[in-house]
Amino acid sequence: MSLSDDLEVGTYLEVAEATEAGHDERPDSRFEARRPANGSEATRDAVAVIDFGSQYSQLIARRVREHHVYCELIPHDAPRARLDAIQPRGFILSGGPASVYAEDAPLIPQSVLDSGKPILGICYGMQALAYQLGGEVEPSSRREYGPAVVHVSEPAAAIFHDLPGEFGVWMSHGDVVRRLPPNFRSAAISDNSPAAAMWNGNGLIGLQFHPEVVHTSYGSQLIGNFLKDVCGCTGNWTTASFVEETIEAIRREVGSGRVICALSGGVDSAVVAVLVHRAIGEQLTCIFVDNGLLRAGEPRRVVDTFEQHLGMHLVHVDAADSFLGRLAGVTDPEEKRRIVGDEFIRIFAQEARKLGHIDFLAQGTLYPDVIESTSHDTASAASRIKTHHNVGLPENLPFRLIEPLRYLFKDEVREVGAALNLPEEIVWRHPFPGPGLSIRVLGEVTEARLETLRAADAIVMDEVRAAGLYRQLWQSFAVLTPVRTVGVMGDFRTYGNVVAVRMVSSQDAMTADWARVPYEMLRPLSSRIVNEVPDVNRVVYDITSKPPGTIEWE
Ligand code: XMP
Repeated sequence: MSLSDDLEVGTYLEVAEATEAGHDERPDSRFEARRPANGSEATRDAVAVIDFGSQYSQLIARRVREHHVYCELIPHDAPRARLDAIQPRGFILSGGPASVYAEDAPLIPQSVLDSGKPILGICYGMQALAYQLGGEVEPSSRREYGPAVVHVSEPAAAIFHDLPGEFGVWMSHGDVVRRLPPNFRSAAISDNSPAAAMWNGNGLIGLQFHPEVVHTSYGSQLIGNFLKDVCGCTGNWTTASFVEETIEAIRREVGSGRVICALSGGVDSAVVAVLVHRAIGEQLTCIFVDNGLLRAGEPRRVVDTFEQHLGMHLVHVDAADSFLGRLAGVTDPEEKRRIVGDEFIRIFAQEARKLGHIDFLAQGTLYPDVIESTSHDTASAASRIKTHHNVGLPENLPFRLIEPLRYLFKDEVREVGAALNLPEEIVWRHPFPGPGLSIRVLGEVTEARLETLRAADAIVMDEVRAAGLYRQLWQSFAVLTPVRTVGVMGDFRTYGNVVAVRMVSSQDAMTADWARVPYEMLRPLSSRIVNEVPDVNRVVYDITSKPPGTIEWE
């Protein structure tokens, strides 16, 4: 996420269009060039997850990371150098939609099979392993989808250490392994699969079910057993080791160069800035473009945190007037996005030029963006658009990139943020869109309407925190609608604005559900907004899920 979680609007539309046209090929070519700033690879245990396009591939990577083992998701057809670069102790083969007998079926790289290292094949990964090692796979007479029970027949297999003899799993497959490859035996059975698991008595294992999903009991333990008991990983990839190695790597890479970093108020850019600052101190300058579209109190907090507490060199640009000037009269949401993105890039570049020669731009790209941008999977255009709007500044800026979070998931970034002692409000801040409040003031954005929205939004935040719900919610905010309604206050008729309150739960913003918050919290929230915010006389709660709605109203 380029300028972190928030400021990436500039490319939202361009990327969406490029993706739909099927030619989004952004960062792949820069992949290797960017890796060094992410820690020494020799000192930590790693495994490679070979991606065959399963919807669960990212989940496998997350599960591995939970065991403090570093891993990367690598497309099945990636050049061998990418596998070698992470020096994996073992491989996990993901599931995938293909059938091994299909024309162009994706195969396990020969170098993986020849490596002599442990391999865990999951679903399609198991079928590919069976097929390529001389077994037979065929379509199952009954597709197995959903919960099933497996009975372990080879309790000696290290992957089943300390597991009960039978447990519930999640199946999702059409093909089955009909004949095991030479030297393999069935290690578990289910009603529909005589080989729900296979094992060669050594480091090669196949699981027909999905240990990475929560519906498989002991799923995490199965993965942990593979990592520790089969691959010999020690789980030495911790937040502390990440911080230490990353700081060291940044120091090496930057040398005596100068770095700039755009702060947005969000956790990603904050963590990047602190890591880089710890590595090279004064050689870092942060630029905070206040676009006048942030929530109440946020600009102050950014300045206080980074300049006062952390002692960083911070350029604070109050650009509210120029953003609002360009937004005047604009009501179309996509046009607002384009303007905010454009203006940000213009001002950022202008400020950067004033600093003289700069060698590097540090930014908060996260791993899901990297995966989306480089994978060859079957992700729909829609899903790509959603994650791609965070991919970043234009590529022609004259800086080399430092992306220390390029291999982290969001929750890992929060852990690093906490380890770096960043304030709670930054570490746990809800995602906030790059165009900021401009897309929450529906219709024309004016300073007065922003003020009204900020006041209502601050009350929503207050009440959400008071109810102890902030961390449970994915996002919570107020929207200022262009609707006016009649009300009565005291003896007077009022004709005021309607504020909508949106609170959603979600895992990744791709889908979301409206939050079933207690009525007891909605009541003070509503009465405070109506009483404390001038010109607002009605509050509504949005009970639309995504899809068919979106999280934002514009
Ligand atoms: P929607 O409204 O599409 O939002 O369900 C999904 C997530 O993306 C955020 N969002 C944006 N983030 N630039 C951003 O950086 C944008 O233009 C933008 N539009 C929506 C939204 O807040 C939610 O987290």
